[in-house]
Amino acid sequence: MTDRYNNFETVAIHAGNTADPLTGAVVPPIYQVSTYKQDGVGGLRGGYEYSRSANPTRTALEENLAALEGGRRGLAFASGLAAEDCLLRTLLAPGDHVVIPDDAYGGTFRLFAAAVASVAQEAGARLVVDNTFASPYLQQPLALGADVVVHSMTKYMGGHSDVVGGALVVSDETLAEELAYHQNAMGAVAGPFDAWLVLRGIKTLAVRMDRHSENAARVAEMLTRHPKVTRVLYPGLPEHPGHEIAAKQMRSFGGMVSFQVTGGEEAAVAVCDRAKLFTLGESLGGVESLLEHPGRMTHASAAGSPLEVPADLVRLSVGIENADDLLDDLRQALG
Ligand SMILES: Cc1ncc(COP(=O)(O)O)c(C=O)c1O
Repeated sequence: MTDRYNNFETVAIHAGNTADPLTGAVVPPIYQVSTYKQDGVGGLRGGYEYSRSANPTRTALEENLAALEGGRRGLAFASGLAAEDCLLRTLLAPGDHVVIPDDAYGGTFRLFAAAVASVAQEAGARLVVDNTFASPYLQQPLALGADVVVHSMTKYMGGHSDVVGGALVVSDETLAEELAYHQNAMGAVAGPFDAWLVLRGIKTLAVRMDRHSENAARVAEMLTRHPKVTRVLYPGLPEHPGHEIAAKQMRSFGGMVSFQVTGGEEAAVAVCDRAKLFTLGESLGGVESLLEHPGRMTHASAAGSPLEVPADLVRLSVGIENADDLLDDLRQALG
């Protein structure tokens, strides 16, 4: 399939999604099963022996993930942090150094800060990109030189705030084998229903991301002109420090917008409390708009670290509702 069709939207819908050989079902069924009957000792029917090692629904998703990111191998985990933990155990040895950007996800920072004491030197550096906010529709890090792509599939890949999952995608086959070894050894794999939900979400990833980006651009533009907003952080704005590089390597600028308000922390918290259509909650990337106060919520664990976020910051995950309704809600929440 993917040999013949390389356009993202087509790959997203078809890669890994072969019709069920037994029934002809057009999407992979949920193989809710832990073990597989063998035809004599070692006689595996479809290569499956135990669902921690491999499960057909997860395989469908893993094949899809590899195709989406233009990699050779995709691995699906129980969460984004489980994927990162597997990566950390595979790549790092005592004494290694990890360079981590100051806008990394708070949980990622917590995971690495816990592990840094026990890591050590390695000859070469590997580039790992967390592509959660962009999704492979907006940018494909392997093609840009990255060694590993990480996803919290909980976000845009799933897209409907109904599943927690993680993924690693790599091109290097030796590294893929090492990661698959640790994935199986640690056991934090995506379950069949979770894999199925993400596979289902991915089919609409392209159209969702287009709308997320359009709506976020309108929200960012309105906020830049609002008298109670002191700063808007959105890579689509020309004044954003990452704008030029984002414009070069991303299809559009995604659905995440943050802004700072006059009146400090209490004013930011009040905006969160007053919002009605934007639901106050952690996470991001679902079809419904969310907002949160990172300082007290998602990034609370980064307090006192170089990753600490400003207290007057509000973060929006702009959904795919009608943009006028979203603007109205933000205007009333800002007061
Ligand atoms: C950018 C990013 N990476 C990784 C994670 C961790 O993923 P999960 O919550 O699925 O474990 C998150 C969670 O919010 C995230 O936003």
